[in-house]
Order: sequence, then C-alpha cells, then structure tokens
Amino acid sequence: MKEKRSTFRSKLGMVAAAAGSAVGLGNIWRFPSETADGGGAIFIIIYLACILFFGIPLMMAEFLIGRSSKANAAGAFKKLAPGTPWKWVGRLGVLTGFIILGFYMVVCGWTVDYFIQSVTGSLKGVNDFSANFSSLLANRPKQVGWMFFFVILTAYFIFAGVQKGIERSAKILMPLLFLLLVILVVRSISLSGAGAGIDFLFKPDFQEVKSTVFLDAMGQSFFSLSLGMGCMLTYASYFTENSNLTATAVKVSLLDTAVALLAGLVIFPSAFALTANPDTIVSDLVKGGPGLLYITVPELFNQMPGSMIWSAMFFLLLTIAALTSTISLMEVVTIYIQEEHRVSRKEGLLLVVLGVLILGTVSALSPSFFNGLDMISAKIMLPVGGLFISLFAGWYLDKRIIQLQLTNNGKIRFGVNFLKVYSFILRYLAPVAILLIFLYGLIGQ
Ligand code: PHE
Repeated sequence: MKEKRSTFRSKLGMVAAAAGSAVGLGNIWRFPSETADGGGAIFIIIYLACILFFGIPLMMAEFLIGRSSKANAAGAFKKLAPGTPWKWVGRLGVLTGFIILGFYMVVCGWTVDYFIQSVTGSLKGVNDFSANFSSLLANRPKQVGWMFFFVILTAYFIFAGVQKGIERSAKILMPLLFLLLVILVVRSISLSGAGAGIDFLFKPDFQEVKSTVFLDAMGQSFFSLSLGMGCMLTYASYFTENSNLTATAVKVSLLDTAVALLAGLVIFPSAFALTANPDTIVSDLVKGGPGLLYITVPELFNQMPGSMIWSAMFFLLLTIAALTSTISLMEVVTIYIQEEHRVSRKEGLLLVVLGVLILGTVSALSPSFFNGLDMISAKIMLPVGGLFISLFAGWYLDKRIIQLQLTNNGKIRFGVNFLKVYSFILRYLAPVAILLIFLYGLIGQ
C-alpha cells in the first residue's frame, strides 16, 4: 500500500525533531549514572571526544543516507546498494530500536510516576528519597501500568503523523526544558558544598580509570545522539532538500551535549552538597546507578521554596523530552514494517505496540533483563551499527552522493579539504576508533 511520505515543514522543525530525538532520558537519566560509574571527569572527556570525532560525522552520514534515499532504515540501504547485504545494517538498526524501546519505556513510566507524585504532593512528605524510589521499583503493577500508558501515548503521536505530532511538540517544549535546567543548575551550584560535585565532573582523577570507561562513554555517545540504528537516517528521509546537513548535525549534537552537561550540573553538585556522608558519596552515586535522577533531583527540589511546583514542571518536561525520543524510536520500527512489509501504518503500528508491550513488561518485572537490554543496545548494537554505517558511507557509497548531499547540489560551499577530511573520518578514523574501543572494552570486561 502506497501512502504519501510526509516531510518536516521548516528548517527549525527539522532541527527540533532531530534534537527532540536526541535529547531525552539518555541525557538526563542515563548520562549522570554512566558518569558516576565512569569516575566523573574522565568519562566526560572521553564522551566529548567521541561526540566530536565520530558522533557528528556519523550523524551527517545518517542524514545523507536518509535524505538521498528517502526510505526507512533498511529500505535506504536497499535503494543505495541494491542486491547487497548492506540492508542488514538497517535491519539491525530496527531491531536495536525495538530493544531500546523495551527498557526505555519503563524509565518513561518512572518519570510519569514522579510527575504524578509531584502533582499530588506525595513527594513532598518524603524523608528518604532512596527508599521512595525503591518502593516504586518494588511496585511491579504500577511500573507496568505506567509503561503501558507511555507506549500508548507514543503510539498516538506516531498515528497522528510526522508533521503534526513530532514537529509541533518538539519546537515548543525543548526550549522550555532547557530553560528549566538552567534554573536548576543555578540552584544546585549555589548550595554550600556544591564545589566538590563540580570538581567530580570537571577535574579528572587518573587513578580511578576503569577499563570499560571507553566503551561506556562511546556507548553513551551513540545512545544520546540517537546514532547507530537508523533513527537520524529515518528522520532525514523526511528532511527537505534545502536544509544544511552539516549545520544540522552540529547544532543537534551541541544541543544534546549541552543538555547532558546541564543535567550533570544539576545532579552532581546537589548530590555532593546534600549528602550526609561525604566519604562515601562517590560509591553511593555509583550504587544509586539507574535511580540517581529519581533520588537526587527530588532531594534538590526539597531544598527549594515551592518545591512541588518545580518538581512537577521538571518531570513534566522530562516526560515530554522522553516522548519525543520514544516517538523517534517507534517511528523507525513502524515505518520499516510499513514500507518493507507493505502493511498499513495502522497495522504496522499495532504490531510494534504489541511487541514493545511484551518486552517492556518483562523488563519492568526483571531488573536484570532491563539492564541486559540497556547494555546490549547501547554498548554493542549501536556501536556495531555505527561502525557499519561509517564503512558504508566511507567505502561503498558514491562520493558524488556525499558531495551533493552535503553541499545541497553545490549551493553550499566548503573549503576544498572538507570533503577529504570527512571521507578520511568515515573510512579510517571512525571505524578504527570504534573497533579499538570495542575490543579494549570487551577484553576489559
Ligand atoms: N537519544 C535518546 C535519548 O538520549 C534515546 C534514543 C536512542 C532515541 C536511539 C532514538 C534512538 O534519550
């Protein structure tokens, strides 16, 4: 069945939609807990290097593959490399998206629960925030319930279509989230004792390097930028011809990184300032792991006048940031089924929803399954996907396609060496770096 492909309407809408996909729980929930685990500043330095050396170039690669083929993640490879096994890179991406949805939706559910706790005021009376979070984890039916709610909510937006659903919500709400984070950073770093948290984030302690820190940081950079699974590729298939792919990739990556760093600046200074036992704070942070956001941030709000209003606002905006990410994930899987298996959008969506509900239920019931999905997708599947996308764009794809896409048919001028450097990154730098980090991380495990 042929339905007309939609496109994003404006340039701002494209940046907003891609940024909406990138900015999500990955920045505000996953980044802080990975940073704590990775020893703070060292993790952040490696993370930033990954964004710069292969994050941005790979995002450009996904953009140009998507826009030149105007197809879903697997269809794009079929069009550009007919009759070759490259389509499996796209298929792997679709599977990765499905797996990410399987645990991400559970965290979305926690976020909604904290929004409700803020609105009803029940979060206000809490003494022990860590126990409060544990009791949510222990309440399986509640977690499954919220997860169901979030899956259906996301499906509604997918059903409403690309323009109306994604573009509109991303454009208005992302800037609001940004503003709120800035306010919270100011509050957090002005607490007395916050300095130790800032040091933890920005002063590297080379004694504490874990052997897996490279793999962890690389995985986080892929996860946070929505790279390695054809998500940016799929969104770029809705881009119009006049948008500047390089500029868009740079803007989206900067924004995404800024949000992650802001989230770090909210969480760590306040965690250090508010802790009762400074000696064990680092190990407490590591133990806090996936719960960090839901333990430290409410504690910070508790220190502020009008705490529940701030808290409600924060968790509402976080819910929306998460939603623009789940929409992008679900879109990748849905458009794949719709275009490759020739079913209607509705039928495709129904299948995806059922699959995600099953996977989500298992991960809500089993923390080790949850962790397994997180680990496999971020630390293995996304980097492998990214490696192949880089090899595809660097070695297989016709150079002229890259050139036409990046220059918009010659309308954008770059220095002569720009495309050469870019091609070197795609051919050698990114694949070799990813492979080395990968091997080093696996040996270190
Ligand atoms: N980047 C999103 C986040 O940080 C998660 C995501 C990963 C979305 C991969 C799409 C694809 O929350």
